[in-house]
Order: sequence, then C-alpha cells, then structure tokens
Amino acid sequence: MTSRQTELLIGLNRDHPATLRAQIETQLREAIRAGSLKTGVVLPSSRELSRQLAVSRPLVSEAYAQLAAEGYLAIRQGALPVVTAASNSDPQAPLAAAAKPAAAPLLRYDFRIGLPDLTSFPKSLWLKATGKALAQMEPNDFGYGDRHGVLPLRVALADYLGRVRGVIATPDQIVVTGGFEASRSLFARALRKVGVAAMAIEDPGHTNLAALIAAGLELVKVPVDAFGIDIEKVTSTTVAAALVTPSHQYPTGVVLSPERRHNLLAWLRERNGFVLEDDYDAEFRYDRRPVAALQGLDPNTVVYAGTASKALAPALRLGWLVVPHRLLEDLQAEQRISDYGVSRIDQHALAVLITSGEYDRHLRRMRLQYRRRRQMLINALAEFMPDATVTGIAAGLHASVTVPRHYDEEKFASVAARMGLAVSMLTHHFIATGPASTTLLVGFSTVSESNIRPGIRALATALAYE
Ligand SMILES: Cc1ncc(COP(=O)(O)O)c(C=O)c1O
Repeated sequence: MTSRQTELLIGLNRDHPATLRAQIETQLREAIRAGSLKTGVVLPSSRELSRQLAVSRPLVSEAYAQLAAEGYLAIRQGALPVVTAASNSDPQAPLAAAAKPAAAPLLRYDFRIGLPDLTSFPKSLWLKATGKALAQMEPNDFGYGDRHGVLPLRVALADYLGRVRGVIATPDQIVVTGGFEASRSLFARALRKVGVAAMAIEDPGHTNLAALIAAGLELVKVPVDAFGIDIEKVTSTTVAAALVTPSHQYPTGVVLSPERRHNLLAWLRERNGFVLEDDYDAEFRYDRRPVAALQGLDPNTVVYAGTASKALAPALRLGWLVVPHRLLEDLQAEQRISDYGVSRIDQHALAVLITSGEYDRHLRRMRLQYRRRRQMLINALAEFMPDATVTGIAAGLHASVTVPRHYDEEKFASVAARMGLAVSMLTHHFIATGPASTTLLVGFSTVSESNIRPGIRALATALAYE
C-alpha cells in the first residue's frame, strides 16, 4: 500500500456520549453526503488516520468497513480507501462537471486576435528562472513584503522599460499588478480618488468597460482615424483623463501621430489630468522605426501600463504600471485595499528572466517567428484577396484587412464556422453600435505556419459567399 500522509478533517470529542468509532463514521458519512468529500477522493489508510486521531487502528478499520458496507467507500486489499459514486446526491458532482469547459469546436484556421502563440511559452526558461529565483530568495522574501512589487522586479523593469521603450522611471514608481485589467481598474479608482470624474476612451477599442464603469467614471468615447484617437473631438470640459494605445492602437493598429501626442498631453496638462498608456503589444514591432512610449514625453502626466500577457502568456497574470509621483500614493492605497499583491515568487522569476537577458532573447525569437507568419499572411492575402487593403501590420499580432465590398456578416460567420475558420471583426470592437465596416481583424499569432495560406484561401471563399 502506498504510504501517503493524506490529512482529513475529523474532530473527535472524547466527552461526547457517542463512541469514537461512531463519531468517525458519522463525520465521514456526512462529509460524503454533503459533498465536501467528493467521489474519487483518496482517504488516509486506517494506520495513518488512527495515528492522526490518536485512536486504535481497529477502530478506524471498523468505521471504514461500515461505510464501505453502506456504499460510501471502496476498500480493496492493499489500496487506500476511496470515496465512491454511491453518494449520488453529491451536490458538487454536477458543479464539477460544469466546471469542465465544454470542448471548444476545433478550429483549423484560427485567425482570431487577442492571444500570443500559446505553444511558444518558454517553459524551460521559466522553470530555470524560477529555480534561480528560489535559490536567491531569502526567508524574508517568502513573507508578504512590499505589496506593490518586489524590488528586484521593479529595478529590472525600470531599466528594461527605459532601454526598450524610452520610459523614464525610478523603481519606486513601478507598481506590479495582476495584468493590464488589474492596472486599468487601479488607475480608474485612483482617478476617482483625486477627483477626476470623466475619461476619454478610444472607439473602436477595448469594449470590456465594466471595471471603469464600476469605478464610477463617466466614459467619453472618441473616434479613431488614421492618426489615432481624434482628441480634438472631445468637447466635454469635465474630461480630465484618457485611456489610449498610442504605439499600436487596439484594434486598428494605427500609430498616434506626433501632433496628436503633443495635443493630447497639452490638453491633459492644462486640466492637471492623466493619460493611461496601454502599451499592450509593444514588444512586437517589425519595421525599423521604433515608436517610443508616450510616457517618455511627459512622465508627470502619463501612467504607463505594460503586461506579460503577449510577451510570455496571459496565464502569468503579471502586469506593471509606471506611475507619476503625484498619483502614486493614491494608486497604491487603492491596491492595498484590493489585495496583497501578485505572487512574489513569479515576480522574482520574471526579474531573473529580464536581468539574465533571456527575456530579450525570447522576444527576439518570437519577433522572428511572428514576422515570418505576418509575411506569409501578407503573401496569402495578396494571392487570394488582392483587392483587400491591409493596414496596422507594422507591429502587433494581427492585421486589419478591409474588404472593398459588402458581405453578409452572419452568412460569412456560418460558412466560416463550417470550414473551421474564425477571424475577428472590427464591428465588434465599437463601444456602441459602430459604423458599417467591412474590416476583418486577422491574427497571425495562433494559426500555424502551414495553415496560413490554406486558411486565407478559405477566408476568400467564405467572403465571396453571399
Ligand atoms: C488592448 C489590450 N490591452 C491589454 C491587454 C492585456 O491584458 P492583461 O494584461 O490583463 O492580460 C489586452 C489583452 O488581450 C488587450 O487586448
């Protein structure tokens, strides 16, 4: 029999009129019935449980035998007792089944946007960095520590962001968060704290705005054109903040023009306001001309937000903010009331990855891989959809592909689904109902190289169907 030191929650009361054996039996039976002990759970051996409860072994064996006779446990010679499915009333069973996500329909050509290539997560690098981090961590590092981020990561990020994005920051201005979603929510709450009531947002843009609304912000949607957010269109004088994606607008892919950058910052400076810069996929720029972060132009007005979701994986839930000193205390106060911060072990691991140079090397490899897929996509579009206009591909993980004729969106989606093909649509990224658009957002990060050409051929076929 395997010697497992499984623990079990059983409390014995030696002054209780019921015998110890009866107490064990009753508690186990009730736990199985109530569903806290679920079907398939392995219980401790009678020797182990008798040791844990400081009772004689036969007493536990008898209790187990009784429960087996009632159908609650399966007992086999040489094996540990297992909770059986006999307790059909197990209220957790349907929940457990429901928690298992229904198998997603298999997509042969997945051109949807929003994810990096999940098959390329650098597992061995992350394992090595975690090992090194654990070896370096002192006992104190395993405590709560500074909730706003561990020092080695703050130092590493301040250096890294300065080097590759032109961000001007000292480590104390870095706030480590659970990803951009968490950063955005903290920013919104800090804004309310300093009296900002309304914020401009890009339209089309990020449509999941619940956290901003919950923070009590009035959201003013501003159109985006070929030069980025058209900030002159904001007439409301109450707006003293903006949320923008200046390096690679989400989802159109346009770059905020130098003139608009200047105007946006001047406008917010005048109102003593703030802009949140979402630099979500800045790591992947393919043309030679780098676009520096907006933050470097005005570190006192811009709150810079980065994430590991595209460079590594969304599963890490790691993001960071660079916060001007005049907002820092209010933002940190909001973070203190929401949680105790992000896994400090993962933060140390990311710090190791960055300072060892492996993060840069990983990004270089990924950039080459994405650049190859991007070129294949461009070639396939030129071959099968020569009249389409392709924009927004200087950076990021998707292209905006505008088809010069109308197509029925529903019919297209159903034909595409039958072919195992999926793309994202610009129309779904407008905050309210947007203008009619024939622009598709075609991602090239998750589709395999060998499926790009046949996938675009399938897309062309699906679009021609009316
Ligand atoms: C526009 C935009 N910003 C940021 C993110 C990253 O969010 P998070 O860091 O919470 O994963 C995403 C995720 O896809 C995004 O679409």
